[in-house]
Amino acid sequence: MDSIYVQLLQDHLNIQRALDNFERLLEEMHCAGRDASTLELIMETLDYIAVYPDQWHHPIEDLIFSHLLGKGDVEAEPVNRALGDHRQLLADTRRITELFYAIANDCAVERDQLYSAAKEYIDAQRQHIERENTEVFPLLEQHLASTDWEQIRTQLLERPAPAIAPELRAHYDALQQRVSLPRSSAIA
Ligand SMILES: [Fe+2]
Ligand SMILES: [Fe+2]
Repeated sequence: MDSIYVQLLQDHLNIQRALDNFERLLEEMHCAGRDASTLELIMETLDYIAVYPDQWHHPIEDLIFSHLLGKGDVEAEPVNRALGDHRQLLADTRRITELFYAIANDCAVERDQLYSAAKEYIDAQRQHIERENTEVFPLLEQHLASTDWEQIRTQLLERPAPAIAPELRAHYDALQQRVSLPRSSAIA
């Protein structure tokens, strides 16, 4: 299994963990009201999602999926759907982030609308990962040989600049850990 593919699988686990954290923080906010420390963690988690999957993971998948479609004998529908999901999720992340920025700035946002929009967003992200794991990634395993992965690796290296610098990835890994900790430890 190519190391790029292994990284994509690991990314899915990391993103799922971020979504679990986001959901847990939402529930805390729902119970305790607008608490500044919970809101801050929600904003950081949304920032993580806006950068890690939207700016890093999905663009790499876009390149790999395009290569896959170029093979010609591949079932295109699930791949095209995943590519469409990436554009939709990018817009959804912006929309949900704006809602939470409005809350952080004390603007009036209808509570039920906020929670239902956030839940829908989490579901959409989870369903996307699930569809890739079950419908698209098996096609990668089936159709991409080591020479394909080498071509993909070369294309990735030729891109203008990595979307996420290594130090930024370390920062987000630390954030994941902090948000995952019990609240008393996370605030300290
Ligand atoms: Fe994706
Ligand atoms: Fe993915």
